[in-house]
Amino acid sequence: MRRFLIATLSAILLTDFAGAAPEKVPGISVTFTAAGKSDTRTARLCALYIPKGAPATPFLPAGPFTAKLEGDVDSPLRGDYTFGVEVRGQVKVSMNGQQILDAAGAAAAQYADKQVQLQKGANHFTVEFASDGEDDAQLQLHWASKEFPREPVPPTSWTHTPAPDEIADAKKREGRMLFAELHCTACHDVGTLVPKDGSGMMEATMTAPDLADAGARFRPEWIAAWVENPRAIRPSATMPALHATKEQSADIAAFLATLGTPAKVSVEKPAAEVADAGGGLFANLGCIACHTPPDFAAKDEHARIPLAQVAGKFQPAALGEFLKNPMAHNAWTRMPNFRLNDTEAAQLTAYLLATAKTEFPAATGDATRGKALVASRGCVNCHAIPGIEKSTLAAPSLAAVMTAGAKGCLAESEGKAPGFALSPRQREGLAAFLATDLASLKQDVPAEFAERQIARMNCTACHPRDGQQSTWQKVEDEMGALQSAAQRPTDPVEGAPIAGTVVPHLTWFGEKLLPGWMGSFIAGAAPYKPRPWIVARMPGFGGPAMGIAVGLAQQHGLPLSDAPEPAPDKEKVALGEKLTGSDGGFNCTTCHAVKDQAATAVFEAPGVNLGNTAERVRKAWFHRWLLAPLRVDAETKMPKFSEDGVTTQITDVLGGKAADQFDAIWQYLHSLN
Ligand code: HEC
Ligand code: HEC
Ligand code: HEC
Ligand code: HEC
Ligand code: HEC
Repeated sequence: MRRFLIATLSAILLTDFAGAAPEKVPGISVTFTAAGKSDTRTARLCALYIPKGAPATPFLPAGPFTAKLEGDVDSPLRGDYTFGVEVRGQVKVSMNGQQILDAAGAAAAQYADKQVQLQKGANHFTVEFASDGEDDAQLQLHWASKEFPREPVPPTSWTHTPAPDEIADAKKREGRMLFAELHCTACHDVGTLVPKDGSGMMEATMTAPDLADAGARFRPEWIAAWVENPRAIRPSATMPALHATKEQSADIAAFLATLGTPAKVSVEKPAAEVADAGGGLFANLGCIACHTPPDFAAKDEHARIPLAQVAGKFQPAALGEFLKNPMAHNAWTRMPNFRLNDTEAAQLTAYLLATAKTEFPAATGDATRGKALVASRGCVNCHAIPGIEKSTLAAPSLAAVMTAGAKGCLAESEGKAPGFALSPRQREGLAAFLATDLASLKQDVPAEFAERQIARMNCTACHPRDGQQSTWQKVEDEMGALQSAAQRPTDPVEGAPIAGTVVPHLTWFGEKLLPGWMGSFIAGAAPYKPRPWIVARMPGFGGPAMGIAVGLAQQHGLPLSDAPEPAPDKEKVALGEKLTGSDGGFNCTTCHAVKDQAATAVFEAPGVNLGNTAERVRKAWFHRWLLAPLRVDAETKMPKFSEDGVTTQITDVLGGKAADQFDAIWQYLHSLN
């Protein structure tokens, strides 16, 4: 059901368009129209942000556009709600066929409010937005009720039934992603269709791992098995099978084995406790959310990446090096960087080697023949391989591919063409994309980029999102045995992290965090850990990080940065400091550290250091969080400080007004920088 929204590559491999009767899916449908062309996709929220001069979707030209958003808001009960919009552009909102809002904003965002009654069950919304292309385009639909203060209508409230156009355009989008991810252009030349400077679709510039030093890192018997059929080893592999026979694969392996010499390692076997500690890390760091444990024998429901082969694949020293820096030979790897220290890397390596039992049959081949095959089979179309300059593989032109229909690589039985083992759904997607003019490779839209990369990088392995559990939560019962085998200190170490896998929800990151901070954090470049009390650790994802951050903000209808903060008002700063403290304040400091000042009683519900709020958090989210934390995260232990959304219990400061008091705290937190 969620396949249009968060389909992972493996899910794409496993599912089929065929016979899928339209059923309700999460999110809202958006049809963009520009220069007489239309394009429909699913959005998580009734929101958009499109900077001036940028296209609304990869398939439409930049300039003036309209957007029609349609979906149902499900209401558990009949009740009164106030709806409002933040808008740059023009917007009309209708509910159940009746217009409820008509607003226009020019230079700055504007707000219009209207109270209406939602019926019990589905309420159909139609939102018609227009931008003349002279300014950034912005839209956010908000609501409020007696029970909760104004907030964006949450992703979990929207559902819709995809119309045929949306289903067709989803195929086209999946085809576009496959075209990039399967490196079609490596053999079918695209000429200037993909800008080299990265201004187009980023995935279309993805390279394959470099194979310099392949012989130092991989065992020849594994290379032979991989070349023969990559998908037999990793179902989600994107490398095609190149129809090398067993003997040819052994020749190729013999050649690659000449590239580099494996590092010598001590032959001593690590003690069993080291491997057990590694098993504990495998659970606690969330490896288990993306990978089945190497000795996992059952069929996996979560399409996790198997690891049973790693002892047979890596030369002994290379596995630890890979874990410490997965991007070293593959800038586009989906395996993130956990910033492991030497001890952790050694423990994880010991665990993997002790439990990974798949062996590969010995392969002896001829390196000279192998070298010739590497040139003629097209390996160098994708991989940089020392000593081989040019591919001698002859592939049809892209123009031929675009008109060929279900032939060659797209044929049901591949014949001589590279074997991608495409599902019918993937073939349909690729055909739909090839039927376009491919101009969408030249441009991209961050909101869509973020969604594709969140699926590709499997962020929801660890993060719950839009009301869905993370994989990590789903596999919780696999963790106990690994955790209890790992030795724990018998006395709790002072200052040791509080164990637990509580990972923040991804749902509101786009609204909460400033994209600059978020991007460097996703890249793994932030100098501190916001939640030092959890054992889990956010790994770094390299290249796509900043694009994901910008795209998440735009999904929530937000620009790259907030309006610049005016210089803090001295009086307000002093009041804000008082309000955060225990002397006539809200006691924020029981749970939150502020800069170097530790929190006074963290064991209940530790919070993030408030000294970092100014660089991390957006103003509108800050206010919404303080007014109603449970609306943002239904499980948070952060207390609510205003019962009625207007006043607080501290009546002697700023007239007891919540908004003014929270603003004073905001100014105080900004003065700390
Ligand atoms: C490793 C190089 C390589 C890659 C990568 C590759 N192809 Fe091909 N493709 C070929 C070769 C070689 C042929 C010709 C096969 C033959 O002679 O039967 C071919 C043929 C085709 C044809 C038939 C063309 C015709 O005129 O008959 C289509 C369509 C096609 N490929 C589509 C794709 C798509 C889509 C992708 C990406 C999913 C892709 N190819 C990736 C090498 C490649
Ligand atoms: C967000 C998902 C994710 C997490 C979390 C993750 N990995 Fe990976 N890992 C991958 C993917 C995907 C690959 C396959 C390589 C690729 O696609 O680039 C991979 C590859 C690997 C490989 C190499 C497998 C091979 O056949 O080449 C090892 C070893 C590995 N991971 C170990 C770990 C360990 C140990 C952890 C925890 C510290 C971990 N991974 C956490 C996604 C993840
Ligand atoms: C269409 C592009 C493409 C072609 C052609 C191709 N590969 Fe690959 N190869 C990849 C990608 C992408 C990966 C990374 C794993 C994955 O996603 O499948 C990979 C992975 C590998 C790896 C493992 C690297 C690692 O770091 O784990 C080896 C070894 C390899 N390829 C060898 C070859 C050889 C030998 C050939 C020619 C017979 C070849 N490849 C042809 C795209 C390609
Ligand atoms: C291996 C598990 C794991 C994966 C995979 C993962 N994260 Fe995280 N993420 C975490 C943990 C744990 C935290 C909390 C870190 C902390 O506060 O120290 C976190 C925090 C974050 C934060 C900061 C939130 C805040 O309020 O401080 C962002 C943003 C984020 N992750 C985005 C992503 C994105 C985007 C992806 C995919 C590209 C991703 N994460 C994949 C574990 C993961
Ligand atoms: C009972 C403990 C508790 C008290 C008291 C408390 N908080 Fe929190 N606060 C939390 C928790 C728990 C979180 C969520 C932590 C997470 O995201 O993992 C949080 C999160 C926050 C965040 C988001 C920070 C970030 O960078 O992610 C802000 C801002 C914040 N609180 C401000 C305040 C202020 C201001 C006060 C006092 C008016 C306060 N809190 C009082 C527990 C508390």
